[in-house]
Amino acid sequence: MTSEEIRQKFLDFFEQRGHKIVPSASLIPSTYGDEGTLFTTAGMQPMIPYLLGKAHPEGVRIADVQKCLRTIDIDDVGDNRHNTFFEMLGNWSLGDYFKAESIPWSFDFLTNKEYGLGLDPARFYVTVFKGQEATAEGGASIPRDEESIKIWQEVFAKYNISNEVAGEDGVVKEGVRIIPLGVDDNFWIAGNSGPCGGDTEIFYDVYPNDKVGRANPEGNFNDLVDSFRLIEVWNNVFMEYNKTTEGKYEPLAAKNVDTGMGLERTTAVVNGKDNIFETDLFAPILSEIKQQVANFDVKASRIVADHVRTAVFMIADGVTPSNTDRGYILRRIIRRAVRYADSMQADNEVLSKVAYIVIEKYKKVYPELEQNREQIFTELNKEEEKFRKTLEQGLKEFERGQDPFDLYQTFGFPIELTEELAQERGITIDRKKFDEQMIEHQAISKAGSEQKFKGGLAEHSEQTIKYHTATHLLHSALRQVLGKEVGQKGSNITDERLRFDFAWPNKLTDAQKIEVEKIVNDSISANLPVCRIELSKEEAEKTGALHFFGEKYGDTVSVYYIGDGIDDAVSKEFCGGPHVKNTGALGHFKITKEEASSAGVRRIKAILE
Ligand code: ALA
Repeated sequence: MTSEEIRQKFLDFFEQRGHKIVPSASLIPSTYGDEGTLFTTAGMQPMIPYLLGKAHPEGVRIADVQKCLRTIDIDDVGDNRHNTFFEMLGNWSLGDYFKAESIPWSFDFLTNKEYGLGLDPARFYVTVFKGQEATAEGGASIPRDEESIKIWQEVFAKYNISNEVAGEDGVVKEGVRIIPLGVDDNFWIAGNSGPCGGDTEIFYDVYPNDKVGRANPEGNFNDLVDSFRLIEVWNNVFMEYNKTTEGKYEPLAAKNVDTGMGLERTTAVVNGKDNIFETDLFAPILSEIKQQVANFDVKASRIVADHVRTAVFMIADGVTPSNTDRGYILRRIIRRAVRYADSMQADNEVLSKVAYIVIEKYKKVYPELEQNREQIFTELNKEEEKFRKTLEQGLKEFERGQDPFDLYQTFGFPIELTEELAQERGITIDRKKFDEQMIEHQAISKAGSEQKFKGGLAEHSEQTIKYHTATHLLHSALRQVLGKEVGQKGSNITDERLRFDFAWPNKLTDAQKIEVEKIVNDSISANLPVCRIELSKEEAEKTGALHFFGEKYGDTVSVYYIGDGIDDAVSKEFCGGPHVKNTGALGHFKITKEEASSAGVRRIKAILE
């Protein structure tokens, strides 16, 4: 069965059960906050407003095929089942049906030979949510999902399949089909907040007679998944809560169902494969790669196929390579594809040649690929060329004897590449020294990204330091103009702008924006000193310095204040820095954008001119 047939069968099945079919939304979510994601990572993301209670124009039953992008598994791409881009088949109940319909429908679609996928009912195993105790951070106490267990038992019984439930140990043995697992496995949420709930996941046994000769899989459930014996094909989420940005679980007004079935994996198992790269979705792409390279390699070719496909869809949705946010992810994906293509000795412009095949394969379902064809080729060729230039420059440095770690830092040369170059020239490089430098570097960037997560800085260029100080001034100006209830919700700084999210229900008026700008610019023209002191946590709190509630601070904290003394400072915040020494260094502050980031949260972008 082809992927085209599977998409169509899925949509037909749910259309016949009262669902309206909607087209895929863009890979770029219409809004994203610091709690949100850069890309659409699951089919439910464009549905969030409706899962939270807004009426969907098409009604209460919806089905679709949604483009999704997740880079979290990028290092696993190349094995038999991971992708960065994938399509998710989904059906939604918006306050309509719940578990009793959703679970039997999924099983019917998977197993029915006539209108479904015709998979063998005896090869399925399912997980359900085993519940959780209330947590100190406000996590609700959620009971074990007995209802789903009972429904699954009935479904399996109807097909004359054993239906026992695994014990606390999560071990699959003779008779066991239903495995209750905890929050890490069976509770679903997109990002850190929003609609969420327990889920039931459906797995297929891809090796009915495994190497050890057992008829059925046995052992710890997660081990069976990690060893590729069981593969997840469908996830049915029963959304009953909204997790607030403060981490509280509030019951949703209506209970919803959100399901997601990965098209690549489903196409594989339906065709008796345990490998997504052996499906019609990838076959033409891989065969093109084979023709474009001198030394074909299975893993490298899969990475190129995956990455080119992802890049094509990203560009079609309007992303271009750059050094920030989405553009940076695209750049990384393209450059990774070039490296792996080169490892197989590919010709120049290999990516756009492979992209041509991707467009041909997908253009019927996703007309935006055809519409942006030229843009896709141009961006891929441009970025490939740019990267090759960098590689060339790095190569010269290498030949001049540049240190492998410097090559990594300046030109992004991975050690494997440097080693290959060295080998070709009969040079030995000091791998041990490189590894030590890498470990140190990783520790520094880890500390940096942890700080970024807390709203601080990841890198300390001169410009980002200025923006950091400007962020403190902005925070304080907002509190002066709007009131003390303005609380920081997030901050993100690049060397081109600052972005600041804060709790406030309304759009700022022009007069308010002008006033905020004026207060910040007055502090800048006053050439105020920016000072750091270390205080005990209690003393620091007494100064009235701003800090994040709920954040864990050590006994001694660092406070930055802007002004001649801490008592009459224009800004004081708990902060690790760094900052400029004097506000006079900042230049002119200007708000470039003020918009909603999520419900009750506004976002300001500002620049220093
Ligand atoms: N939202 C669920 C998932 O992505 C269906 O797994």
